[in-house]
Amino acid sequence: MTDPVYQTDALIAEDIEAYLRQHEQKSLLRFITCGSVDDGKSTLIGRLLYDSKMIFEDQLAALEADSKRVGTQGQEIDFALLVDGLAAEREQGITIDVAYRFFATEKRKFIVADTPGHEQYTRNMVTGASTADLAVILIDARKGVLTQTRRHSYLAHLIGIKNIVLAVNKMDLVGYSQSVFDAIVADYAAFAQSIGIASFTAIPISGFKGDNITGLSAHTPWYTGPALIDHLEQVDINTAGAIAQPFRLPVQWVNRPNLDFRGFSGLIASGTVRTGDAVRILPSGKTSTVSRIVTLDGDLDEAVAGQSITLCLADEVDCSRGDVIAPADAPPEIANQFEASLVWMDDDPLHVGRSYWLKLGTQMVSVTLQQPKYAINVNTMERLATKTLDLNAIGVAELATDKSLIFEPYAENKSLGGFILIDKISNHTVAAGMLHFALRRAQNVHWQAVDIGREMHANLKNQKPAVLWFTGLSGAGKSTIANLVEKKLHRMNRHTFLLDGDNVRHGLNKDLGFTEADRIENIRRVGEVAKLMADAGLIVITAFISPFRAEREMVRAMLPEGEFIEIFIDTPLAEAEARDVKGLYKKARSGTLKNFTGIDSPYEAPEAPEVRIDTTLMSPEEAADEIIRRIIPFD
Ligand code: ADX
Repeated sequence: MTDPVYQTDALIAEDIEAYLRQHEQKSLLRFITCGSVDDGKSTLIGRLLYDSKMIFEDQLAALEADSKRVGTQGQEIDFALLVDGLAAEREQGITIDVAYRFFATEKRKFIVADTPGHEQYTRNMVTGASTADLAVILIDARKGVLTQTRRHSYLAHLIGIKNIVLAVNKMDLVGYSQSVFDAIVADYAAFAQSIGIASFTAIPISGFKGDNITGLSAHTPWYTGPALIDHLEQVDINTAGAIAQPFRLPVQWVNRPNLDFRGFSGLIASGTVRTGDAVRILPSGKTSTVSRIVTLDGDLDEAVAGQSITLCLADEVDCSRGDVIAPADAPPEIANQFEASLVWMDDDPLHVGRSYWLKLGTQMVSVTLQQPKYAINVNTMERLATKTLDLNAIGVAELATDKSLIFEPYAENKSLGGFILIDKISNHTVAAGMLHFALRRAQNVHWQAVDIGREMHANLKNQKPAVLWFTGLSGAGKSTIANLVEKKLHRMNRHTFLLDGDNVRHGLNKDLGFTEADRIENIRRVGEVAKLMADAGLIVITAFISPFRAEREMVRAMLPEGEFIEIFIDTPLAEAEARDVKGLYKKARSGTLKNFTGIDSPYEAPEAPEVRIDTTLMSPEEAADEIIRRIIPFD
């Protein structure tokens, strides 16, 4: 075998341009390694990086330089240095995040995502796996298929990785025994089939000794498959699959440098497009034909999945970021209710009913989640009943978006079926999700247009609708002050309606208690009712603890700009507790009343309320006057 490193060096020396060109044209394989340190994962990664000789990371380059200094002492020593480097990194806790490494061989470029193996790092593995074409599942030949092997395989499959490599490592420690290898492969095959993994490639290796990594080992004459690197270099990374599907272009931006040119830019998610094709723009449903396919390398007649293009259309049709361009006769589905798998990735658990951002490719919508149908025990694949999903939990839930999503099931199209959820207040990515299918009921409920709109209702009453949203601790004085405000507005001939927490909980919300989920649902319903009443032209006054910022912001977002007026009745806990008008604080302190706001349930004070009332400084009467004075400008 000629030394590939020498060839490369020679090419760099002779013709750097040719070398760079060659490098640029190589395909890129992204893969993930799954397993724990004990399985020899660091050693294997070190081996891949070391043996492939082209290491682009500074740290590793430095190690390489070190190894040159060590000179003739041989490969094992240099290699040990490299592994130590990786291990040190791990100890510093850097691998809590996903560590990406880049390396290349003569045939391909690689990005390997190294994620920790333990269950508490499921989210890291999912992050690493989300962009991977292939997963290397590492097994210690002495131990065989373990719980974590099953967990990693399940996750890789869930994320849609089609190429699975079962690397049976430490073959040197089992005497390179074919029967040990065969038994492990048979064991794994049975499991793989049970979770729907159609095929995998098993390779007996020793990361430490280097067997079957870059070339076939003399120690395993019974093994006739490829060495690991050869397999990684040759494996088909399935652009063919994506190309065979219908054409989908999620529009990233509208390209309009001047009045003569208007194109729609993005990365083709699947399929093929040709000039002259009849296309449909979703969600509007408008049709046109492709007049030009523009790329950085000039115009094309045809473009396929994986290419970034700018599409020009024959007609002046509306199309903006988040829209999807598809064949006129094979458009993707549109819906607003779905079933999906979720991997929860935040310390803050799933809150049923809370409104999150859902980002699917270039589309961004508001979404609320139902109580999960079940969570999956990732070690046994059992389905468990659950009320929520905690950090690293995986489950299936139904979700409803406020606007329609253009989508495809994740199993068919990762780019149009995979999404993330973002907390609206903290901005954290709280979950990764995979759409299964749309719930049919969503498609049969349509918005009914009515002739008498909200403005006509309000005009008749000669007022501007508003929602005066009181928030504060129990016993802060919300109901008392809200009641006075309503009386004063009534005297001013304003049409009002007061929704009070204790009262609404006797009727509409009598099925709800005081868990987080119930409080969220309480506020969601009250928000919807307040919105309907504002649509009817009323000035709505609400008096609910409404302890969570997220739900108050949700109601704000439901209403036209300026109509939601947040009034923070700011009474310190000590003061509310001292007053204890209903004797509830006493009960809460004695432990007979659970989940009491301010005691063992949180209250998130508003950060920028329209009005803040410090009840230690004024009487309820003065507070009501102050509120009227402050809301007049909104009127
Ligand atoms: S919210 O948190 O969901 O907004 P809401 O304003 O409807 O609460 O109801 C609060 C009222 O319910 C309190 O004023 C109090 O009278 C009563 N209550 C009973 N149990 C609790 C509890 N665990 N926490 C807070 N309020 C409670």
